[in-house]
Amino acid sequence: MNWIIRSSNGLRGAVNVPGDKSISHRALMHAALAQGTSRITNFLQAGVTEAMLRCVRALGVEVEVKPDGDIRVSGGQLRSPAGPLECGNSGATIRMLLGALAGYRGVTSTLTGSAGLRRRPMKRVTEPLRLMGADIDVDTPPLTIRGQPLRGIEYTLPVASAQIKAAILLAALHANDSTTIHEPGPSRDHSERLLRSIGVTVISKGSTVVLTPPDRPVSAFEAAVPGDISSAAFILAAAALAPHSAVTIPAVGVNDTRTGLLDALIQMGAAIRLENRREINGEPIADVSITTSDLRSISIGGDWVVRMIDEFPIFAVLATQAQGETSVRDAQELRVKESDRIAALTLELRKLGAQIEDRPDGFCIAGPTRLRGAVVDSHGDHRLAMSLAVAGLIADGETTITHAEAHRESFPNFVELMRNLGSQIQSDAD
Ligand code: S3P
Repeated sequence: MNWIIRSSNGLRGAVNVPGDKSISHRALMHAALAQGTSRITNFLQAGVTEAMLRCVRALGVEVEVKPDGDIRVSGGQLRSPAGPLECGNSGATIRMLLGALAGYRGVTSTLTGSAGLRRRPMKRVTEPLRLMGADIDVDTPPLTIRGQPLRGIEYTLPVASAQIKAAILLAALHANDSTTIHEPGPSRDHSERLLRSIGVTVISKGSTVVLTPPDRPVSAFEAAVPGDISSAAFILAAAALAPHSAVTIPAVGVNDTRTGLLDALIQMGAAIRLENRREINGEPIADVSITTSDLRSISIGGDWVVRMIDEFPIFAVLATQAQGETSVRDAQELRVKESDRIAALTLELRKLGAQIEDRPDGFCIAGPTRLRGAVVDSHGDHRLAMSLAVAGLIADGETTITHAEAHRESFPNFVELMRNLGSQIQSDAD
């Protein structure tokens, strides 16, 4: 699929973004383990969550999907699947399944995925799970895992990764003793919040998380998923950059471990407001509004990187329009996402005329630069596709994004919402 984009005269209005990807994954995985029928509302219906749905169904979990992301999950009794569990492009699916299945006795599964997923690092998850007693044959998918009795461990994560933490916490539910995790940085804490909301004892103190395994299996629960701040980020950035814009996105998740881009926008001078702050299922949400803004450069490094790890593609587009030199360091994790985001961003943004230099652990962008339309590629990465689309909205002339179908992995109605706000994005799939 190609997108063809012309410069925008502004985005105006209010739109709801789809449910949060990370919270949808966790809610589904924990509902698959819980006894009885759980209900999840505003569940993200997109490529990456379809992957997890497919896998839990293959493990014997019944899932009824009603319109508008209202799903019922009848869990608690997993069985060995008939064939390999196909995790598609979803790192969260394969890593969380490894955690959930490590201690699930009587269930043997083989987990695999797309060529892209098979290249992504899995040893960071298999290693701690093996320390707990997991039986996993290799460190690269396809991997076969046989449920085993597990022991609690004390473990320091090699990188600040919520996917590793989520996998260990899932396994820890089935361990004989408590598990302690030390994190090098503040990775998203959705697992901890969800577990607490369903009655599991999880104590977080500074950078340490301790889970005590429950005496009996967790019961079915109800969870409502907030709007995904990582999807909202594309719309907020487009509105900050395109002239005459004023946009509101209601009920967006604003958990502190995810709001690094909002902090960046504020420090860059964006006219952004968070209103009507409230909580659902222990997760803070707010209505976020933004208007066209003059931006200045900033420097990002350290823990801030972890709090906006998925937002660097769209942040790079913002930086091309900021006054001065923007620098990002300590972000080497970007090289093992859905694409090598440092290399892909440097290559594609240069085609649009951006002044961007890559570094081993980040990049540096001089701005502001007038972007000019060109043909650019998503590298099969959903966040690249949508970030480049936003760049196209502020570029002179016409921009074509190839392999734009990648956006369906996390934000299938992106084009529809952008059109509702008044932007011109043509798709050759129309
Ligand atoms: C996620 C954590 C992050 C993020 C990914 C979703 C999660 O990955 O990039 O999109 O749901 O836990 P890492 O934990 O590998 O940094």
